[in-house]
Amino acid sequence: MKAIDLVRRLAIALLTQTLDRRIGVIAMMFLCACAHARNYTIGFAQSDTAESDWRRANTESFREAAKDLGITLVFKDAGGKTDVQRRQVGELIEQKVDAIVLSANEVHGWDNVLLEAKKARIPVVLSDRTLTLQPENQNKGLFVTWIGSDFRYEGRAAGAWLAQETAGHCNVVEIEGPLDAAPSIERGKGFREVLSLFPGMKIIASKPGMWRADQAKKVMQGFLHDEGANICAVFAHNDNMAFGAIAAIEADKQLALKPGKDILIISVDGVRHGFELLIRRKLNALVECNPLLGKLVLKVVLEVLHGRSFPASMYMEDRVYTTHNAAAALPTRKY
Ligand code: AHR
Repeated sequence: MKAIDLVRRLAIALLTQTLDRRIGVIAMMFLCACAHARNYTIGFAQSDTAESDWRRANTESFREAAKDLGITLVFKDAGGKTDVQRRQVGELIEQKVDAIVLSANEVHGWDNVLLEAKKARIPVVLSDRTLTLQPENQNKGLFVTWIGSDFRYEGRAAGAWLAQETAGHCNVVEIEGPLDAAPSIERGKGFREVLSLFPGMKIIASKPGMWRADQAKKVMQGFLHDEGANICAVFAHNDNMAFGAIAAIEADKQLALKPGKDILIISVDGVRHGFELLIRRKLNALVECNPLLGKLVLKVVLEVLHGRSFPASMYMEDRVYTTHNAAAALPTRKY
């Protein structure tokens, strides 16, 4: 089968998946603002606001939505440390908040604290990040629902774009998020699923950049040192790490390679500066991951507090942006 046929097959698979995901989207469309009556106190356990533009926009969207909905938001920030975040969720339980929103720093280690929340009859809604419970706890209703983007789809979309752009021949270096974080796991899997269809596409190096531009810059310096002009593309698991990779390529005067031209750059998030770099052709493609979850998640929480149930997973709809559609899209970007 020719590479282009495989890309087509994939496009169909991606579309089908989008249709499946509509169920959650439809459930979210029927949210009302009926739960205003009481001043609820809701805890929000954020993973690490300082790490990226995405997460700053995410935190801001929760703060704004809480204000608009008359909710008292007890905000906790774990600074990227899972043990700190677990302790903070415990504090929210002790404080007897009405509900908890959790954006888990990593997928493991949540069973005990979620069992405590259940015992205290405090509903937990997962925002953006999925988590992995021990098999014996998976059917105990330890969280009501999860709302966010489909990370596996994002990885597949990045792989499909790159396969199409390079006609299925490319040596890729991958800058991952933290290894136990849901987006890193799923984006990595989705990307590999697509690459496995193309014998000419290989991941030649892979290393975490912890969602941060400065750390990703160092990772990219190492890749450039080891692989140099052998690198065809960078797949960065988020935009800020792509910014770090671009800075590293531009700083390497000996190799004198141009990001976006000699080395293709694709990343996930779709933050404003990413669009600016697409327009300047230093970045080639962005897979959107919408951080503006605050209003939606808090409305769902209010409905949960009024006894409504929701599907286990509810997906946001995201798109792929390239140098072709970035300029038209930029004025409408909200983050
Ligand atoms: O969970 C979403 C991811 O987390 C975003 O890609 C990244 O920027 C953030 O830290």
